Amino acid sequence: MNPLPTRQLGANGPVVSALGFGCMGLNYGYGTQLEKPAAIAVIRAAFDHGVTFFDTAEVYGPFTNEELVGEALEPVRDQVVLATKFGFKEGELAKGTDSRPERIRAVCEASLKRLRTDRIDLFYQHRVDTAVPMEDVAGTVKDLIVEGKVLHFGLSEAGVNSIRRAHAVQPVAALQSEYSMWWREPEREILPTLEELGIGFVPFSPLGKGFLTGKISTDTSFPKGDVRNVAPRFSAEALQANQAFVDLLTRVAAACGATPAQVALAWLLAQKSWIVPIPGTTKLDRLEDNLGGAALTLGASERQQISEGLASIKAVGERYPAKVGAVER
Ligand SMILES: NC(=O)c1ccc[n+]([C@@H]2O[C@H](COP(=O)([O-])OP(=O)(O)OC[C@H]3O[C@@H](n4cnc5c(N)ncnc54)[C@H](OP(=O)(O)O)[C@@H]3O)[C@@H](O)[C@H]2O)c1
Repeated sequence: MNPLPTRQLGANGPVVSALGFGCMGLNYGYGTQLEKPAAIAVIRAAFDHGVTFFDTAEVYGPFTNEELVGEALEPVRDQVVLATKFGFKEGELAKGTDSRPERIRAVCEASLKRLRTDRIDLFYQHRVDTAVPMEDVAGTVKDLIVEGKVLHFGLSEAGVNSIRRAHAVQPVAALQSEYSMWWREPEREILPTLEELGIGFVPFSPLGKGFLTGKISTDTSFPKGDVRNVAPRFSAEALQANQAFVDLLTRVAAACGATPAQVALAWLLAQKSWIVPIPGTTKLDRLEDNLGGAALTLGASERQQISEGLASIKAVGERYPAKVGAVER
């Protein structure tokens, strides 16, 4: 496999492999909990294949995902960019947001320990906290940057007002939000704003939580605790309606000798030179499949086939169950 190309996140942000690796699903979110050695093996395989950008968060586990990442990457710490996130009360998603300055500082100290490092390369606010002014959040991260504990500031699922307010206090290197063929909302306001401000974009769930790979159908049963059991977009009716995305991807993939996952990722990479998707998988063969997406350049005719196809498909089903909301627009 060829080495992965690199991209820069933000005008002064980190240089990372064009595809990062999302570590969440190794032990959180999708009902799968790999044993530690197996999870570490996947992370190290990603590094061996050229990935230098790894994504985790305090809430994944909670806490244990950061520990895996820290242990897996300790031997190569200086060759990778570690991204983690703060912003939930006591590190638990269900308890709601908490980005009070003292909490951000506490998370930073605890994350540094779990990640076995002396600096967090990219520290994201996981969700906007409407109870804490964004200026206070950005100011706290700015102080952590001055202290050398954090290198770059990021936001996740923030709207344009929050992005501008944060960026005015401490330049934001990257926004991490959902973006894929079946969730193109960021194209409306977010991407133009990021382009104007020189902020990089990190699409999460770039494979549509696995759906866009074509490996999920109405016959698929997800393990207990898998978020897709309750996500409206994965209801039987929605899956059936959304199959049109997979059909399109499969057609394009066949035409260019690639897989649907590779086309889904190559399409994201083709949108802007400052986009770095972070697909996740628990499986080594799928890791290789996904990384092949960085070597795939979609030609003009394939891009046109995709835009025409997407123009006639409407995604069915909300991304998240109503009670998980917590997304600012
Ligand atoms: N900021 C946020 O709020 C937020 C939210 C969600 C996620 N994230 C981050 O984004 C990362 C990626 O997002 P994600 O994990 O939600 O979604 P994703 O990368 O779109 O999809 C992951 C799912 O797809 C399956 N998969 C991966 N590659 C595949 C392939 N080649 N063929 C078939 N199936 C494949 C995986 O299953 P297997 O393991 O069985 O392969 C897994 O269930 C996460 O790890 C996390 O770091 C951030």
